[in-house]
Amino acid sequence: MFIKQRPSWAISESEVTPESVYLNRRKFMSGVVASAATLAMPGLLQAKESSKLEALDYRQAAEYSTDEPPAPYDDITRYNNFYEFGTDKGDPAHHAGQMSVDPWSIEVEGECARPGRYALDDLLEPHSYQERIYRLRCVEAWSMVIPWVGVPLADVLKRLEPTSKAKYVYFETLHRPEQMPGQRSLFSTIDWPYREGLRMDEAMNELSFLAVGLYGKALPNQNGAPIRLVVPWKYGFKSIKSIVRIRFMEEQPKTSWEMIAPSEYGFYANVNPDVDHPRWSQKRERRLPSGIFRPNWIETTKFNGYEQQVSHLYKGMDLAKFY
Ligand code: MTE
Repeated sequence: MFIKQRPSWAISESEVTPESVYLNRRKFMSGVVASAATLAMPGLLQAKESSKLEALDYRQAAEYSTDEPPAPYDDITRYNNFYEFGTDKGDPAHHAGQMSVDPWSIEVEGECARPGRYALDDLLEPHSYQERIYRLRCVEAWSMVIPWVGVPLADVLKRLEPTSKAKYVYFETLHRPEQMPGQRSLFSTIDWPYREGLRMDEAMNELSFLAVGLYGKALPNQNGAPIRLVVPWKYGFKSIKSIVRIRFMEEQPKTSWEMIAPSEYGFYANVNPDVDHPRWSQKRERRLPSGIFRPNWIETTKFNGYEQQVSHLYKGMDLAKFY
């Protein structure tokens, strides 16, 4: 985020867009409830090309979805922030194929009754997948609409039985420098692994989501395969990718961007047009795809438009102080 962005004109608007196909399939899939037998096994998914990624079985969660048009698949998967693979927006798509995601397990620890190492499939198996079309607003002032497939975070966390001492939940990304060139870089400002956290009530909010796919297929590596967080009312950096650790904590955890620049990036990171970043305005955002002749600037809305679902979490809090 300190690093220059790939200019908006670098996104080709003529890139192939599968969304018409997708919209048809959404109609077809509507109402389908995933059966245990057809649930995809994210651990099997390594292919880089979208066409090779395994299709997921899911039902739509229309009540949680925006009807704004999703960005084309190619924009969502080629314009990324995943600093483990480099700082340019195109780096993750180029380099993330090196990361092997099979097998994948998640270490669960801290204030809960069911700590331990869970194979990803065991963690996900009892849950059926749903699709949620969310806005993602990056702190860098661009945004996209993304059709995620996954499970509500609360459903997974509840099964791990957090104790009454669990006030926060902390997440960590894979640390594997041999497959992640950004973690080997001498210029990196991040103290790896990438870390994020939520207050427990934020994590339990109905919008908090663990994504395993997008556009009906398993997540490509560059988007955080095989499992990543999506917290749509917060700046995108809270939505940590490729999660390998979940820790229930009594104290507020230290998070990556806060560790790097605490005066610029806070723990809360709620999307808020009234609280500017010290170096740029947060009043507007560039909705992708955009181009040099169609920059597509739109107004940013409080809590990224999810005020109704989340504003109660911050009642009485000074959001300029707790940014
Ligand atoms: N997670 C990890 N592990 N590493 C990262 O660099 N970048 C964050 C977030 N999750 C990041 C991460 C930022 S800044 C954003 S905006 C979103 O991922 C981008 O998600 P996307 O590439 O799927 O759009």
